[in-house]
Amino acid sequence: MQPFQIAPSILSANFAKLGQEVEDVIAAGADLIHFDVMDNHYVPNLTIGPLICESLVKHGVSKPIDVHLMVEPVDQMIVDFAKAGANRISFHPEATRHLDRSIQLVRDNDCKVGLVLNPATPMAYLDYVLEQLDFVLVMSVNPGFGGQSFLPSSLDKIRQLKQRILQTGKSISIEIDGGVKVDNIRSIAQAGADTFVAGSAIFNQPDYKQVIDQMRAELRDINQA
Ligand code: DX5
Ligand code: ZN
Repeated sequence: MQPFQIAPSILSANFAKLGQEVEDVIAAGADLIHFDVMDNHYVPNLTIGPLICESLVKHGVSKPIDVHLMVEPVDQMIVDFAKAGANRISFHPEATRHLDRSIQLVRDNDCKVGLVLNPATPMAYLDYVLEQLDFVLVMSVNPGFGGQSFLPSSLDKIRQLKQRILQTGKSISIEIDGGVKVDNIRSIAQAGADTFVAGSAIFNQPDYKQVIDQMRAELRDINQA
């Protein structure tokens, strides 16, 4: 079983004091820093690029940076983010022309690699590549914005994915992204996810530690295969 990890998404942080926000959320117990990259092309929003990632790394970030690329094409951004200090890079299969090549590119740049499945993206995209992945990121909202509601159909997708992963015999992690809150994190974990992205649930509250502690309390004593 994979250890449970909480990955606050800085999309909902105060960008005017981003370095401090990242420090605060790490002090509050974050395991990863989730970094949402949007290009106003693959998704209808525009956010942050490799320069910001590099600045954060120089500022000092003691937890791995989990870069979620919502950009098209992806390959140049993989290289740029790896150079900027990313530790994990995920991207959407619809956004690259040569899926296997993009996966190798992340590996060649010494980052953990993840593939992202949108709510309507079929699992068939995993057919020939699953065993090469470190993690699969299941989107439980349509990508582009923070603060949306969790789509319940994602739970079934996580369950199916968990079964497929068990069949590989490999330790491939399942990350969930979108609408994760204290009141649904337990059912998401019971379905099979082990890494939880949460943006608005954490950053929209005054006390980050209180939210993360509550999430961890919900995750106690869950039996996953
Ligand atoms: C949405 C992003 C998410 C977003 C989640 O496209 O990928 O990481 O920040 O935000 P919440 O947790 O508010 O749904
Ligand atoms: Zn994300």
